[in-house]
Amino acid sequence: MDGIRVIACDVFGTTVDWYTGVADQVAEILPDLDAGAFASEWRGMYLPSMANVREGRRPWAYLDTLHRESLDELLARHGVDPDEGTRRRLVRAWHRLPAWPDSVDGLAKLGRHHTLATLSNGGFALLTSLVKHAGLPFDCVLSAELARTYKPDPAVYRTAAGLLDVEPNEVLMVAAHRWDLDGARKAGMRTAFLERPAEKGPLRVDGSFASSLAAADRAADVTSDLSVASFTELADVLSRA
Ligand code: LAC
Repeated sequence: MDGIRVIACDVFGTTVDWYTGVADQVAEILPDLDAGAFASEWRGMYLPSMANVREGRRPWAYLDTLHRESLDELLARHGVDPDEGTRRRLVRAWHRLPAWPDSVDGLAKLGRHHTLATLSNGGFALLTSLVKHAGLPFDCVLSAELARTYKPDPAVYRTAAGLLDVEPNEVLMVAAHRWDLDGARKAGMRTAFLERPAEKGPLRVDGSFASSLAAADRAADVTSDLSVASFTELADVLSRA
């Protein structure tokens, strides 16, 4: 693939395993809850909460604020009433998540020939601590916060390209989510789908998902310039191209 100068990576689900990370921390902080289901329900509130900002129904609010609001609603739904400190700890669970096993090595390989940026709806501070704690070799952190709106608003993708002083078509957006790649393509970027079948929780032996809320996007359903199963595979594909 010619002319790619920047690789922009989605973070939650694509680069880090939010399900395991959040579920493990919920299990530790609120042991009486079904931690996996709680993590799934919480993440399920993420897209609608961002749409309120993107579609102008409320002013800019960064992801920690949206996470806190959805957490308060979810806790009330479950009839649990932890103190303020516990609620803050839960929101910060999203700041420390494990990388998928291929992320650090694959990104390091990709970084030999390309500028590597995050491009996530996570806040700037959240992404900075996430990248630091997971040891992810990004050259820079780009957050939707820099555009004061959320993906898939084209302004987020265009702001990222503008900040790195490249044209959108010199950027390859990598994501495990169809809606994100559709947004990037509309903004003029090239796209790589990185399939993460276990993003929304462990798969059953028969390949179906353990949680009824969960269905990770699969390659067959996504339109993209490239489709891979790991960052390492993406590095191999790009080095051959
Ligand atoms: C992100 C979500 C979309 O990191 O996964 O922006």
